[in-house]
Amino acid sequence: MKFQKKAVIFDLDGVICFTDKFHYLAWKALADRLGIYFDEKINDRLRGVSRMASLEIILERATKEYTQAEKEAFAEEKNNTYRELLKNMSPKDLTDEVRDTLNELRARGYKLSIGSSSKNTKFILGQIGLGDFFDAIADGTDITHSKPDPEVFLKSAEKLGIDPADCAVVEDAKAGIQAAKAGGMTALALFGDAKGCGEEDYDLKSFSDLLNIL
Ligand code: BG6
Ligand code: MG
Repeated sequence: MKFQKKAVIFDLDGVICFTDKFHYLAWKALADRLGIYFDEKINDRLRGVSRMASLEIILERATKEYTQAEKEAFAEEKNNTYRELLKNMSPKDLTDEVRDTLNELRARGYKLSIGSSSKNTKFILGQIGLGDFFDAIADGTDITHSKPDPEVFLKSAEKLGIDPADCAVVEDAKAGIQAAKAGGMTALALFGDAKGCGEEDYDLKSFSDLLNIL
């Protein structure tokens, strides 16, 4: 199977690099402090979901109601812990497979961009040595609606100056696959609950499988 595209938009967390364990540890520290049960299975539900929406999922198991101001303080507390953990990331956290595939796609003339719900996108890209790599970045600081809304991918395509129909999106979250389809883009599923979710156009066998289908 081949797709005729001009640009590839990548989700960040779970596609370019793996921050799941840091999100987990930071949410777990907050949940433990508040006495709320939290485990890796609940953490899986946070994939692709915005920070505040993630907090609401964690608070489903809380025994008391919190005010909006308290919730904002909790989200900030989690983010401070998370950013401390992200300081452990380095270019070693970028696999050879991802680096080589990105370089080959660029050599073939594709525009490459990021479409991530994370407000920490630029910090993470800097940590793994991709701070200046992408042709455009749209992230959690650019949008008001999180995936499955297509806003972040449409913004990324707009920043590239490429028609959404000419863009392929690589995602590890079902919400991201739905966002890509809602934006009129080709949705490529890699790992996570994206793969086999039924709404994707293609299941990638690996990151480098992109070189076989584009
Ligand atoms: C997504 C992650 O990329 O970003 C989610 O998959 C996370 O788990 C979301 O909640 C928001 O991240 P941040 O860095 O803005 O808190
Ligand atoms: Mg993801």
